[in-house]
Amino acid sequence: MTGEPVLSVRDATRHYPSGDTVVKALDGVSLDVHAGELVAVIGPSGSGKSTLLLIAGLLEPPSSGEVRFRGARVSTPAVDLDRLRDFRRRNIGFVFQKANLIPFLTAGENVALAMEIDDVAPRAARRHAESLLTGLGLERRIGNLPARLSGGEQQRVAIARALANDPALLLADEPTAALDGRRGRQVIALFRSIADRRGAAVVVVTHDLRAADYFDRTIELIDGRIVDGRIGTTPASGEGGGRSLEPEMFRNETQHRRKSGATRSVQDRSWPGPVPCRSPDEDPIP
Ligand SMILES: Nc1ncnc2c1ncn2[C@@H]1O[C@H](COP(=O)(O)OP(=O)(O)O)[C@@H](O)[C@H]1O
Ligand SMILES: [Mg+2]
Repeated sequence: MTGEPVLSVRDATRHYPSGDTVVKALDGVSLDVHAGELVAVIGPSGSGKSTLLLIAGLLEPPSSGEVRFRGARVSTPAVDLDRLRDFRRRNIGFVFQKANLIPFLTAGENVALAMEIDDVAPRAARRHAESLLTGLGLERRIGNLPARLSGGEQQRVAIARALANDPALLLADEPTAALDGRRGRQVIALFRSIADRRGAAVVVVTHDLRAADYFDRTIELIDGRIVDGRIGTTPASGEGGGRSLEPEMFRNETQHRRKSGATRSVQDRSWPGPVPCRSPDEDPIP
């Protein structure tokens, strides 16, 4: 992988005081993610996955260590996160387990609002929102309020909103946890295409091993540390190097995807169009 990573977390720790002791939510984590990469973060509950995303997304400072964005140091323990608000809005998209849409705004308005906050003219924001939602197969849902959308549709609106400002970095914390297997897989397929076609660096916290084949690599956190072994390196470069702690399913499916010639890192940043379908039962939700 050449060039400066989009995201570079360096030796990050995050400690929370808890009574007389300290919880080490993150305990010295380093992670680079390049443009066009889709990285899964797995690990048991409480292992620090959300904390890593909050620090990478400049929503919390590290207790020590730093976060770099395209080589520039943006976050350290002394950072004033309020001053990074505009930077965050322009460069980082977030998707959470719950879509958290504004209930009294339509799907189109929810997405457009993200741009209007960033000073895009309302009409242009509206047009772009419609094209994003259409690209996600939601053209017939643009005027719907969130309550009139299925869980999968709401999550796709949340993804459209996260993409509204064309972020170089997309961070998703268990975005498929509330979805059934098929819809969850569609959402991961969508992240794959965002990485490929927009060249975004994408990090997804997930428990869902069924979509493992879409990811370039997997890092596993346990007790705030990245588990060593092959995890954290690309599957190709890790071949034959020591015992892998990568779950068997991830390993096999990743290799399968690579052998099947899936393309990556296409750097045109135009919208990719509808969700790519791997099989007939994965059509975008009607
Ligand atoms: N704001 C906080 N205050 C105190 N402890 C926290 C806070 N956030 C997270 N923790 C603790 O840090 C550890 C890691 O949490 P988290 O990053 O949410 O894990 P995960 O997302 O992997 O489930 C847990 O032990 C959690 O209880
Ligand atoms: Mg979490």
